[in-house]
Amino acid sequence: MKLHYFISILFLLQLQLVSGQGRAKIRFNENWHFTLQDQLGYRLHDIDPQAWEPVELPHDWSIKADFGATYPAGNAGGALPGGIGWYSKEFKLPTIDQGKCIQLHFGGIYRYAEIWINGVYLGKKPNGYLSFTLDLTPYLKFGNQYNRIAVRVDNSKQPNSRWYSGSGIYRDVYLVKTNPIYLDDQETFITTPEARGELGQLKVLSKLNKVSRSTGVAGGKKYQITVWDPTGNLLLKKTGVEKDGNIDELLRVDKPKLWSTNAPNLYRVQLALLTKNNTIEDQIEKRIGFRTIRFDAKTGFYLNGEALKILGVCMHHDLGALGAAFNKSAAKRQLVMMKEMGANAIRTAHNPPAEELLDLCDEMGILVYNEAFDMWKKRKNKFDYHIDFPTEHLKDLEAFVRRDRNHASVILWSIGNEIREQFDSTGIALTQEMAKLVKSLDPTRPVTAALTENNYAKNFIAQAEALDVLGFNYKHEDYDKLPVEFKNIPLLASETVSALETRAVYDKLQDTIQLWPASSKDKYVVNGNPDFTVSAYDNVAAYWGTSHEKAWLAVNNRPFLAGTFVWTGFDYLGEPVPYPYPARSSYYGIVDLAGIPKDVYYMYKSEWTDKDVLHLLPHWNWKAGDSVDVWAYYNKADDVELFLNGKSLGTSAKTTDRLHASWKVPFEKGELKVVKKRDGKIVQEASVHTATEAHAVKVSMEHEKYATGESRDLYFVTATLVDQAGQSVLHNDQEIEFIVKGSAKVLGTDNGFQADLRGLHQPKRKTFKGKALGIIQKTTNTPCTIIIRSALGDQQISI
Ligand code: GAL
Repeated sequence: MKLHYFISILFLLQLQLVSGQGRAKIRFNENWHFTLQDQLGYRLHDIDPQAWEPVELPHDWSIKADFGATYPAGNAGGALPGGIGWYSKEFKLPTIDQGKCIQLHFGGIYRYAEIWINGVYLGKKPNGYLSFTLDLTPYLKFGNQYNRIAVRVDNSKQPNSRWYSGSGIYRDVYLVKTNPIYLDDQETFITTPEARGELGQLKVLSKLNKVSRSTGVAGGKKYQITVWDPTGNLLLKKTGVEKDGNIDELLRVDKPKLWSTNAPNLYRVQLALLTKNNTIEDQIEKRIGFRTIRFDAKTGFYLNGEALKILGVCMHHDLGALGAAFNKSAAKRQLVMMKEMGANAIRTAHNPPAEELLDLCDEMGILVYNEAFDMWKKRKNKFDYHIDFPTEHLKDLEAFVRRDRNHASVILWSIGNEIREQFDSTGIALTQEMAKLVKSLDPTRPVTAALTENNYAKNFIAQAEALDVLGFNYKHEDYDKLPVEFKNIPLLASETVSALETRAVYDKLQDTIQLWPASSKDKYVVNGNPDFTVSAYDNVAAYWGTSHEKAWLAVNNRPFLAGTFVWTGFDYLGEPVPYPYPARSSYYGIVDLAGIPKDVYYMYKSEWTDKDVLHLLPHWNWKAGDSVDVWAYYNKADDVELFLNGKSLGTSAKTTDRLHASWKVPFEKGELKVVKKRDGKIVQEASVHTATEAHAVKVSMEHEKYATGESRDLYFVTATLVDQAGQSVLHNDQEIEFIVKGSAKVLGTDNGFQADLRGLHQPKRKTFKGKALGIIQKTTNTPCTIIIRSALGDQQISI
């Protein structure tokens, strides 16, 4: 009780500190309570939240369970439970806030959120992926009285997703306090009509809030626009006077520093509303990039006038062991790894992402294919968004575009993925309706959709003639048909590959790509591996897909394709093609669910970057007499040479249709080494060794690299088994326990294996192929210790 009181005082102080500066946007993630029960009384505000579990948002209740065969989401949904949950939060507001406008902003709740404030029902949000804002003003109490927010979340109707969705308030929540006259964030749109050479132009559009406009308060109020350059120097200030609540200002910026994937220069723009005394009444800030984008039907994509192949990956929204609960440093980790691999783009498959993800993409120079829907009226699952589409889709699409249109990173709006209406004439009107809406809200970016039907006569979304760019998923053998069928329209490989791999598993290599399952006749692979693994040689794919190499060659060889979006950058929860349960997460990722790269990561790195790459596979623990396929991914050399225990096995090179060097090697214990020479000189070597039994755990930790400046930034601790000689051991897995001493918690653990049934929230994890990951978060900034315990002894690190 005392602690509760103390926290309330702290919170009050925090609120007071930000009052009086115009707008205050306060994170509202702490001190929530949660229950997985649903009682009628809760709707009547009959709640005793102290009896519920204290939680901090973002929160995903599904990931806190162990995997199970019987959950109605099935293994396609991640083999985790849904259900109905309630959240409640009590808070006080200082009396000086009386008269202010106070709104609550949710980044995303999965799904069917219903919200009450002090017992008053505020409404329902069916869409699980969109942010929304509610006005609390009329219902609030001030001073010593408590306010209570109650949120009911209903993810009980399953299946409602083709992948793991997570459940709950899984993104950030903010309390936004403004004066009664304020700038409407949704109406604020800053564009760069000129973004080249000497001259740059910034166009700032905004409106005062609806109430001020409709009650005649608006008109004649002063505003001020302040711009800081990418290094933080004040660049310009301009004042003006709004007319009837509208702001429309054009500013000149000389020689703007352009935003690009190599140099993501961002200008900070503040739009402030001023009082008569020139103090700030309200302010909104956006970070803006000067950049031009253009798609050409014959030659692809141009950023700032320069041709740029889009090297993209599709990404679902879960963050592995964290489930759907958003954490900026976990998202940054994914993006950094993708960027280091050479990717310059992501596709937010198949829903609006967390707002903070787009902030990261702006900062890191990552292009975003921003997607709204996975289905329209026609369903993909019994309880999915098709039910809400008729009443919600226009509202949702509008909120989506308004929310994300100020991000330099966003280059495309996608109105849907593999939408079934492409196959019948109802697709025409829906496409036209949605494309028109998007363009009315943002005329600066093209509208697209990810299609599968590559015959124009049968594709009613294309026949709507309303899209600016057409994306096509898979069917790489038919790429050359596309410009013939779909004339004079820019084309993109919006989804490619769907190859399958389990990290560090190597089955005997077959001559042809194995299709698992082989055709639409089978739901699962027949005669797959009994242990639910898939070989990590890039040689197994779902029947609609192909290998990474083949798909990349097909896109790379065709200048008319603006780029590719590989399915997927990371493994994700759910959709574990080709296996039934116990498989529960995907095999598609270039990187596994724990964030450990599979071998093919280095194929991309060798092709997509000009950093020196040399990567050798597989491991070197085989039976005497085995004939082993050895591959090397490399770049910047004519060929590479392989040595077994010092003896040359000859050189090998990439070819026009193979993006790795390869040898067949009769196994012999020892060291296998590959050597890369350039201009006759050795520039890189890589090797694998025959390892003996696991002798110790080698621990590495990553934090700084993925830090975002937030106290909730994570510590990623990787345990790797090594033998006495320090060589990695893949064949002798051990149980690892991550223990924290001090104010920190283990948020989750993982080993990347798609059929490991221990819940990802557990602090214990058996290594898979010699590796396990622990994800740790500090709860205060006092130093603490992480112990990595196993039968091989304890290791310890300080954070
Ligand atoms: C695509 C689909 C993706 C995913 C993928 C798996 O057809 O768009 O969401 O299901 O297949 O291969």
